[in-house]
Amino acid sequence: MDHLISLKEWSPAMIRQVLDLARDVKAHPGKYRDAMSRKTLLMIFEKPSLRTRLSFEAGMTQMGGHAIYYHTGNSPMGSGKESISDSIKTASRFVDAIMARLFKHADLLEMAKHATVPVINALTDDSHPCQILADLQAIEEKKGCLAGLKLAYLGDGFNNVTHSLMFGGTKMGMHVSVGAPAGADFSPRPDVMADCERFAAESDGSLFVTDDPVAAIKDADVVYTDSWMSYHIPKEQEAERIAKFMPYQVNAALMAHARPDAIFMNCLPALRGYEQTAEVIDGPQSIVFDEAENRIHVQKAVILMLCGAV
Ligand code: CP
Ligand code: NVA
Repeated sequence: MDHLISLKEWSPAMIRQVLDLARDVKAHPGKYRDAMSRKTLLMIFEKPSLRTRLSFEAGMTQMGGHAIYYHTGNSPMGSGKESISDSIKTASRFVDAIMARLFKHADLLEMAKHATVPVINALTDDSHPCQILADLQAIEEKKGCLAGLKLAYLGDGFNNVTHSLMFGGTKMGMHVSVGAPAGADFSPRPDVMADCERFAAESDGSLFVTDDPVAAIKDADVVYTDSWMSYHIPKEQEAERIAKFMPYQVNAALMAHARPDAIFMNCLPALRGYEQTAEVIDGPQSIVFDEAENRIHVQKAVILMLCGAV
């Protein structure tokens, strides 16, 4: 059974295949209008969402199928009355694919272990692969390629989006640079760095991790940031995190160190005045809504591939 658990497990060839399919899905949506006819996607959510829920649900509708939004808050699984394994074995009898947005990545692995249908990671504490596939599609659209580009990420390094960007970027031959505060709570996980060094060596890309924001962004083709207050971060940590991350805020002064034709990305939700200023996210270099739009195209491609519908 093929799943999308993390881009760590996906080969560059699989990423290429899904990006090519996503391009076709976007250009010719009518070709896929019945591809998931009478098929159902179960969408399990433990955390909030705008983009992920809407893009998966609308994507299934556009392909002739149906999606069930299932929040664990009032479920037997969420209230501890039913194990993940029993819940997922049961759900697999009803639906054709399962996506899940969970706190713990280990719970997603448990789901994948027991599912008899494809399982898609819609964000865990570890990674957010659907987001990064959409990002890669957007970068390729704007820049015409992936390999050889410098992708600079600024801000929270110990972060699901950061880790997935590192996987996706290094697998596709990009020069990934992460500017984040030093320390285990703020910089990328050591095991992710070690994996990405290996992926970069295989793809002629590179990985550079630094606590110097200017060195990180210097001559970047793509500048990326994410929320300093991810969904799982407690409110009481906010003041400390703002102080830590403020030197990495993507503002006009920092953007001036990137290439003049650099694009700016944020997976959203975004807070102006925090991880970036309004002048950057609302300025001419920002592609955040094109990036968000691609969630629907690339996820349709992921569903089609994993369900064997293409
Ligand atoms: N980028 C993203 O996953 O957004 P949501 O949290 O709104 O789904
Ligand atoms: N790092 C963020 C991504 C939101 C899409 C979070 O986990 O909340």
